[in-house]
Amino acid sequence: MNQSEAEKKIENLSKKIDEHNHNYYVLDKPVISDFEFDKLLEELIALEKEYPALLLPTSPSQRVGGTITKEFKSVKHRYPMLSLSNSYSKEDMLDFDRSVKKGLNMENDLFASKDVEYVCELKFDGLSIGLTYENGILTQAVTRGDGVQGDDVTTNVKTIKSVPLKLKGNYPPDFEIRGEIFMNKKPFEQINKEREEIGEAPLANPRNTASGTMKMQDSAVVASRKLDCFLYSLLGDGIPHAGHYENLMAAKSWGFKISEHTRLCYGINEVLEFIDHWDHARLDLPFEIDGIVIKINDYKKQQQLGFTAKSPRWAIAYKFKAEQACTKLLDITYQVGRTGAITPVANLDPVQLGGTVVKRASLHNADIIEKLDVRINDYVFVEKGGEIIPKITSVNFEKRDPKNAKHLYAFECPECHAKLVRKESEAQHYCPNENYCPPQVKGKMEHFVSRKAMNIDSLGGETISQLFDAGLLKNIADIYDLKKEQLLPLERMAEKSAQNLIEGIEQSKTIPFERVLFAIGIRHVGETSAKKIARKVKDIDTLLSLTKEQLLEIDEVGETIAESIITHFANPQNKEILTRLQKAGLQFSLSEEAMAKTGDKLAGLTFVISGVFTKYSRDQLKEMIEQNGGKNSGSISGKTSYLLAGDNMGPEKLKKAEKLGVKIISEDNLEKMLEN
Ligand code: IVH
Repeated sequence: MNQSEAEKKIENLSKKIDEHNHNYYVLDKPVISDFEFDKLLEELIALEKEYPALLLPTSPSQRVGGTITKEFKSVKHRYPMLSLSNSYSKEDMLDFDRSVKKGLNMENDLFASKDVEYVCELKFDGLSIGLTYENGILTQAVTRGDGVQGDDVTTNVKTIKSVPLKLKGNYPPDFEIRGEIFMNKKPFEQINKEREEIGEAPLANPRNTASGTMKMQDSAVVASRKLDCFLYSLLGDGIPHAGHYENLMAAKSWGFKISEHTRLCYGINEVLEFIDHWDHARLDLPFEIDGIVIKINDYKKQQQLGFTAKSPRWAIAYKFKAEQACTKLLDITYQVGRTGAITPVANLDPVQLGGTVVKRASLHNADIIEKLDVRINDYVFVEKGGEIIPKITSVNFEKRDPKNAKHLYAFECPECHAKLVRKESEAQHYCPNENYCPPQVKGKMEHFVSRKAMNIDSLGGETISQLFDAGLLKNIADIYDLKKEQLLPLERMAEKSAQNLIEGIEQSKTIPFERVLFAIGIRHVGETSAKKIARKVKDIDTLLSLTKEQLLEIDEVGETIAESIITHFANPQNKEILTRLQKAGLQFSLSEEAMAKTGDKLAGLTFVISGVFTKYSRDQLKEMIEQNGGKNSGSISGKTSYLLAGDNMGPEKLKKAEKLGVKIISEDNLEKMLEN
């Protein structure tokens, strides 16, 4: 292939990939499988590597990120980024309509209510962004900042698949489009599930997560966070239509993601109907909204109304009421998590809220307590937002007793009285006494015996507690010294259960290295990273000999994990526990079998497993897929390469697979794929 042929090929491939990205992320209607998509992308990346001069900044290969931004450049907005005034009731909305009509001199028009054309949009709960396109190419993405100037986050925004890097159709040569970057509920829940598995405090809500993600320096991490972006306003010369709604529809045809729920309404009554509908229906959306935005459609009328110092007179936000209650804060107590993370908890005078009685609310961390200035015996407002745990939003200062003293954050662990520590970059306080603090020790043991770790299900949380209190279990290594005679005197411990327990412990000695590595509870080392590390280092001695730089070379290992591994094994107590576990006979190297089984035969393929199997368990099948470089997924989409089907599979799954043209294979087929 010569240079000009390569250029043509790259152009064609990029166009195809852009289209598939649009189908998947904007239209939500994929037409090819994940496997086929990845193949196209791989081909493009290979060509760009061979002909580096042909790599364009708009190439879809650039979406994977990898560029590090040390400091975001501050950029002045071409048009200031204003905010909206808020309204909270039907009356507020009627007032708005009246003042609009007054401003437009329509008050005396008998049919006035039909004459104002309003555009109703969802008020997405994320962070605002301004995107500049020059000749159809995304050249800059700037955050709101203080409204006058914001941060240039172009490299990060380029990783958001629903943001077009290049436009199609008849777009103006130079314009700005503004919208909201947000995170869908599903990926947000997934992040928190993963954090929980490795003992990290959950993130508070999708909005803060999206906004925190935008500030990250490593765009590859941003890419992995699956952010999304709806656009809702156009600015600049040469905007094609005289109405906002028509322009949004035009922007949709250029490739932007415009919400399908945007409506053109005639008169305020239709607006109120729209609001009523979404007040309930919002709970079923895959993302969070905190209200509705109402804008006058006609640009001329917008101009006629103009702006106040802070916001336009031609638009308003209607904010949904979060259910709220006011109650007395009786006490602030502290919880110690498995990793020693301290969470302050508000103990409330029980109050009815959203159909349940609320007695406790999270106070998150010391900064939040400080910011709210909440004190014991204060009356506080509690809200149930999108989050499950209710939160305290403010203090009712009118009802504050001047005797209520400023709250002093705990300085020692409520369980073991060790002095709490707080790392500079973290919001949470920690109890550093990881090997002696009771909830931490018990939590570590519970994690150690859990199903995904050593799978000793005969040793439940209650037994652990009993054995800990009896002084028989002080750390995870003690588990392997337990004798049946020591167990029998325990309450509710019969001969049979004692026997089962001892057998369960014995059996756990065959659990493979990667799970042992996960089980020993190194902070930040989750199931997946433990697997990746085990497969890379092959045995514990190699892992112990690695420097931080060498650790960083392992897939899935970043600064935090690398530092955590080093700190863990630098602790003499942890080292001693490790030596005892080795002596007890646990697996600290990959088995011959595991080494023989690993490979990359299934690299780039995504599998969905469904039904009942005869030769292997579902977990074994999952394992086989992962060990050979494949991915497992829970639901069928255009990205699924194969549906691995057993008996009694749900008819819905089968239908969906057939509809999307996903290949259906049996466990025998999978075996064959691995043999070849
Ligand atoms: S229009 C002149 N439309 O809500 C202001 N804003 O204060 C133009 N937002 O900062 C904003 N969804 O980040 C507009 N459909 C929507 C919106 C929306 C969310 C955010 C935006 C803005 C804030 C309003």
